[in-house]
Amino acid sequence: MDRIQIRGGAKLNGVIPISGAKNAALPLMIASLLTDQMLTLENLPRLADVNQLARILGNHGVDYSIDGKRVGEEAASGQTAHLRARTIVDTTAPYELVSKMRASFWVIAPLLARMGEARVSLPGGCAIGTRPVDLLLMALEKLGATIEIDGGYAVVKAPKGLVGGEIEFPKVTVGGTHVALMAAATARGSTLIENAAREPEVADLADCLNKMGARVRGAGTSTIEIQGVARLNGAHHRVLPDRIEAGTYATAVAMTGGDILLEGVGEDLIKRPLEALEEAGVTIVGDNRGVRITRNGAGIDAVDVATAPFPGFPTDLQAQFMALMTRARGTSRITETIFENRFMHVQELARLGAHIKLEGDTAIVDGVDRLRGAPVMATDLRASVSLVIAGLVAEGETTVNRVYHLDRGFERLEEKLGACGADIIRVPG
Ligand code: EPZ
Repeated sequence: MDRIQIRGGAKLNGVIPISGAKNAALPLMIASLLTDQMLTLENLPRLADVNQLARILGNHGVDYSIDGKRVGEEAASGQTAHLRARTIVDTTAPYELVSKMRASFWVIAPLLARMGEARVSLPGGCAIGTRPVDLLLMALEKLGATIEIDGGYAVVKAPKGLVGGEIEFPKVTVGGTHVALMAAATARGSTLIENAAREPEVADLADCLNKMGARVRGAGTSTIEIQGVARLNGAHHRVLPDRIEAGTYATAVAMTGGDILLEGVGEDLIKRPLEALEEAGVTIVGDNRGVRITRNGAGIDAVDVATAPFPGFPTDLQAQFMALMTRARGTSRITETIFENRFMHVQELARLGAHIKLEGDTAIVDGVDRLRGAPVMATDLRASVSLVIAGLVAEGETTVNRVYHLDRGFERLEEKLGACGADIIRVPG
């Protein structure tokens, strides 16, 4: 298994191109199941999760091709995928696949909408907590589906088609909102989603559905209205930039010092994390090319953050921010409100010399003057990249094992950081 080896101490200077968002790409690819025509997605990130989902969609009958520059080629930028589900050949999504990639559970909505039935394995727990799907199933039920749990599978049926309805989520759920949107797009009549997730990836999916002929209004706010249409067409859509990748590199330069342009991303996508970084002592300037992050000389101040649904501080940047705070002046409190068990990085950061104490859903981080390199590993991609950020300033060598987690969500991480001066290599294993 590959490893990432880092020798800490170098500042980051240069330009980092931001890829298309993984968490937008996945639901957009799944939306291809809703039509028998071609969906073309541009700016698709080159990630293991994207390839895996393409294979899963292939099992359901999607013909796909993904083109673009190869890794290592100059200025490799987004790929273009052509996805066409002329015929759905299988409405079952098996355990082996869904348990590996939770987002693939979302195929339940387009399969049900188009075929009147679907049988999708329940995903089970994962490294960041229990992550149930009850609210996703509730949304389908509100649109007229019957639901049965059989042999570890959710079996959903609507033989006469889905019917618009009112869905009020008791808790903000990104996946629940994606599922509700896809199911309601071709339901008879209108659907109202209340307490919808406001994440930019939800608005991106709604944009794409509208290009396919859907009638969705209000995506990006907490109330979404959908007027069902009889059928959807093909479309061309460009995946929005990855705000978590951008926030990760912004945090990395806050850690090392230096001057980085995050190319292709707007400040609006990462407003709250940028505010937290500014409070920590980083200078941020947005322009028409992207967002420039600078930290020179002075150290990092301790800042408290609590994760929250968009536009709050993203849970997907919590681990990275904690890595930064390990070197801050003073004590910071980092509260995780979205997932119950998303502190797996704490013990690994401690291996590098961080002082972190857990109290329930809060990590109390006492900043230290120095971290020291060590072999580390993590069980999810955001935790893994937090160890990379710590490794960038740790004295000596840090080896991050289980690199496949990073490959799921960060395109060419070592190349992007290496090009800006980091001493980082991938060691094939
Ligand atoms: C999406 O997961 C993202 N995944 C996650 O990114 C992200 O951390 C999360 O949203 C929150 O922003 C993708 O987009 C592919 P949720 P999702 O439904 O949709 C509870 C990453 O690192 N809940 O918004 O699965 C749930 O347990 C990943 O890229 C229920 O109780 O998250 C959690 O506490 C990890 N019942 C909260 O809601 C349900 O039926 C929010 O989860 C569904 C969710």
